[in-house]
Amino acid sequence: AHAPLQEHFDATIARDQRIEPRDWMPDGYRRTLVRQIAQHAHSEIIGMQPEGDWITRAPSLRRKAILFAKVQDEAGHGLYLYSAAATLGADREDLTLRLVEGRQKYSSIFNYPTPTFADVGVIGWFVDGAAICNQVPLCRSSYGPYARAMVRICKEESFHQRQGYELLMTMMRGTEAQRATVQSAVDRWWWPSLMMFGPPDGDSPNSAASMAWKIKRHSNDELRQRFVDMTVPQAEKLGVTLPDPELRWNEERGHHDFGTPDWSELQRVIAGDGPCNTERIARRRAAHEEGAWVREAATAHAAGRAARAGK
Ligand code: 3HC
Repeated sequence: AHAPLQEHFDATIARDQRIEPRDWMPDGYRRTLVRQIAQHAHSEIIGMQPEGDWITRAPSLRRKAILFAKVQDEAGHGLYLYSAAATLGADREDLTLRLVEGRQKYSSIFNYPTPTFADVGVIGWFVDGAAICNQVPLCRSSYGPYARAMVRICKEESFHQRQGYELLMTMMRGTEAQRATVQSAVDRWWWPSLMMFGPPDGDSPNSAASMAWKIKRHSNDELRQRFVDMTVPQAEKLGVTLPDPELRWNEERGHHDFGTPDWSELQRVIAGDGPCNTERIARRRAAHEEGAWVREAATAHAAGRAARAGK
């Protein structure tokens, strides 16, 4: 029954053109986009917590203002992405319930603690750097609203990455203790940042379909490799060592060889057993419950206005 519609959809994808909300699309395409965009949005919102804890403890007004702006950006990215999911018929309230009830995922990377201010810098450098590697190709994703959301988000991510790196450059010009604090944060965040790109290609059940539909443009391992190649020279310039004894330049490959992340750790963290999963979800649930009166008031206000306008 859908043959001509499927053909038109396939031809649009083949021509590298965009699928828009009102276009016909296979159910599987819609489902995997809601899955990925919702989880991306959840990641942005949960991602506000690890750094948000440092806003009241930032060492200077300048650092506080930068961090405040970054956390505010993450909230905006989340709202942007929930709106992109809504164009596919997803309901934001329902997505939030799926998140707090553990029925939808968010990025593993946000389940690690931030014990020092250097963690704020390393999150900017590694996590937002990894986000750039992952999100720039998503600007060419076949689904219009998602690709366009990415263009705006990527612009802000580069500020996030640079402010983190600059924070670390400042600390590395400080005392021996500050330099040691930076190195300790690098040691704790390096491997979880590599895991952020997802399981190895051989264990990535969604990749084949996502790449055929041009949602995903590069595989998990390709983007992980890009991130490693981009970050090694930055670490050298900063004067820190990356905690991987197997890391070395491979002239033949034109890339860095590196060790194997602990995939069982990734699976544990994704399953909810990371250092901070419980706390992150509890805070998200509490925020949602405490905000219920605002949503009810806004709904009542809108209904009141509609009733008066209807008179
Ligand atoms: N954390 C949590 N879950 C992960 C994960 C991770 N790091 N990596 C993979 N998974 C999940 C997948 O969601 C999938 O589960 P599902 O089928 O229930 O959704 C399963 O593990 C198998 O992984 P696949 O490789 O088959 O899944 P994908 O093809 O979806 O690839 C992905 C995973 C690369 C994360 C892809 O979903 C993606 O590109 N998502 C959009 C980008 C994103 O979410 N980035 C996360 C960080 S957000 C961020 O960086 C904010 C910045 O401001 C700091």
